[in-house]
Amino acid sequence: MTRISLRVDGVRYDDDVEPRTLLVHHLREQLGKVGTVVGCDTSNCGACTVLMSGPDGKPVGVKSCTVLAVQADGRDITTIEGLSGPDNTLHPVQRSFHERHALQCGYCTPGMIMAAVDLLSENPDPTDTEIREGLEGNLCRCTGYQNIVRAVRDAASAIRSGGESAEPAPPTPEAVDAATPDGGLPPDRVPEEAVPHPVP
Ligand code: FES
Ligand code: FES
Repeated sequence: MTRISLRVDGVRYDDDVEPRTLLVHHLREQLGKVGTVVGCDTSNCGACTVLMSGPDGKPVGVKSCTVLAVQADGRDITTIEGLSGPDNTLHPVQRSFHERHALQCGYCTPGMIMAAVDLLSENPDPTDTEIREGLEGNLCRCTGYQNIVRAVRDAASAIRSGGESAEPAPPTPEAVDAATPDGGLPPDRVPEEAVPHPVP
């Protein structure tokens, strides 16, 4: 086991993990962050996308099924659950996905939204082609992508006209309160669907 320390959605968690544990499994099974999901085992679907701070501190989108939890030691992670603003106001990308009907089953949506946030942080005014190319690492089996492109275009314009940044706001006080002092969620806060499963 290796001791790691992550800041996830603004809250610090210190945990012992096996070196082979994938970041996505650590987020889901240890921290109860079940908004981040797994859709494949070949790194192509993007359902597991989260933002992770790079060595320079700047957040970038990563597929958390291709990152070991130990590789994320010391980094800041933002999941879909940390994206809404201080009083739970939706992030502009979340809002536009809702308004543009850019989701159906919702399974790709957390990863798709995090990838879109990453894209808009890099390119605040993308063309439709740039949106499609920017999200090519994220698969959706329901929507046919058209409404996702519209939603990202709307979000880009809302962010620009509001003078906002695509980068997530700081975490809510509730999120910080939810963490125990030594990190990790108390057992009654871990949702049932987060029960551990064997790591391949
Ligand atoms: S779960 Fe499919 S890319 Fe990560
Ligand atoms: S909304 Fe179902 S996979 Fe995208």
